[in-house]
Amino acid sequence: MDWRIKPLDEILANAERKALRRSLGPFQLMMLGIGAIIGTGIFVLTAVGAERAGPALMLSFVIAGTVCAFAALSYAELSSMVPVAGSAYTYSYGVMGELVAWVVGWNLILEYAVAASAVAVGWSGYMNGLLQSWGAGIPETFTAGYFDLKGGQFGAGQGVVNLLAVSVVVVVCALLVRGTRESAAVNTALVFVKLLALGVFVVIAIPNIDWDNFSPFMPFGFLSHEVYDPQLDAEVAKGVMAAAALIFFAYVGFDAVSTAAEETKNPNRNVPIGLIGSLALCTVVYLLVAAGAVGTMPTEELKNSKEPLAEVLRNLGFQRIGDLIGVAAVLALPTVVMMMIFGQVRIFFAMSRDHLLPPALSAVHPRFGTPWIMTVVTGVLVMAIAGFFSVDEIAELSNTGTLLAFIAVSAGVLVLRRTQPDRPRPFRCPAVWVIAPLAIGGCLFLLASVPPKSLLRFGVWNVVGIAVYLLYSRGRSMLAVRAA
Ligand code: ALA
Repeated sequence: MDWRIKPLDEILANAERKALRRSLGPFQLMMLGIGAIIGTGIFVLTAVGAERAGPALMLSFVIAGTVCAFAALSYAELSSMVPVAGSAYTYSYGVMGELVAWVVGWNLILEYAVAASAVAVGWSGYMNGLLQSWGAGIPETFTAGYFDLKGGQFGAGQGVVNLLAVSVVVVVCALLVRGTRESAAVNTALVFVKLLALGVFVVIAIPNIDWDNFSPFMPFGFLSHEVYDPQLDAEVAKGVMAAAALIFFAYVGFDAVSTAAEETKNPNRNVPIGLIGSLALCTVVYLLVAAGAVGTMPTEELKNSKEPLAEVLRNLGFQRIGDLIGVAAVLALPTVVMMMIFGQVRIFFAMSRDHLLPPALSAVHPRFGTPWIMTVVTGVLVMAIAGFFSVDEIAELSNTGTLLAFIAVSAGVLVLRRTQPDRPRPFRCPAVWVIAPLAIGGCLFLLASVPPKSLLRFGVWNVVGIAVYLLYSRGRSMLAVRAA
């Protein structure tokens, strides 16, 4: 079988020719990273995570963060060697060939577009919380999706379509079509808002910790398993690993830095700084926030909140500051949606440049210079999911695709060490034969901990992906046309 490996030198040369403008420095990259990382995961999924793991949610954060750190080291090595748009997709093309690249690219849609949907739904929870506290709450019909088990008609609730979530996607896409530079500046300002909000949360919550809340520490055990919930009339996931498989989402996004490599000045140095720096900072913040949340509010109360961080503070008697946390989330989460859609569009851009997707889709806007058709297509996809599903199920599905991409990247690093040992590596992953296998093993363990329903959706998505490849992309690929 011809694996159609695209030579790395060609990938690099191609990027030189059709380069996007190199405008980002290390500071902007860190901002891009933190902008993409901190979001719905910590602001919203903390509640569902606590429901699954109890106070041992902290352990879940450590496990998921450690796996991401291992994967980040692999990302840093590959993105410093191949600093071009397209992230894991492009690396896989150059290392393991077209089929693997396609599968990875297809799963990056889960990692980026589907993640954007989850963040939009998370945003809607905080937005509606604020509207409610101003006496203008929107009825559940328009703030929960039809298939949301806790709020939608599917679960015998009221929800039909989450219009709030859909509206934020519309605004974000409009901004992106207007141009990257404006949106990067907005992002930087809002990253500060986000860090400030989490900082205030930690400073208030940590001194108020009631140590009784920490016991029992691990009420539902370690491994992921399902138990029947009579209230929801459905199976729900429990265990530290079930929570880890969900709140892994809180770390996703650090690789958005590498998708922007083609637009980065001196990428060999700056991309590794951006990746590892932003991940390290977020990990510390998450642990403090998780301790503050589970330590100040019993899990039973925390678990049903759609705006848990605001509610924790209100519960402690800081009503106004709780509202301000809500304001910060409402202002800042759209930047995460923006970074995710930004990353997705660039991956689609790379795939259409290779003719695995229709090249016409990568047309650049005559006035704004942005890949506007891709942006609109992505936006429609993001809205279709955000409108109808619950945040935890969307995040979980997104995680499955992300985990697969991380596995491919870590495997790719090892393959390249063997096949091209002399190629320059501006950043070398330390102890790669330990770190990369640990990343792969950790991702597999997390993947195995995802509840069966989401794993099934992941399987179906990939069957569809392979079908699209065989029926459309395989015959039209640049490499195929050239070989013919
Ligand atoms: N890590 C991002 C978030 O938590 C996707 O929203």
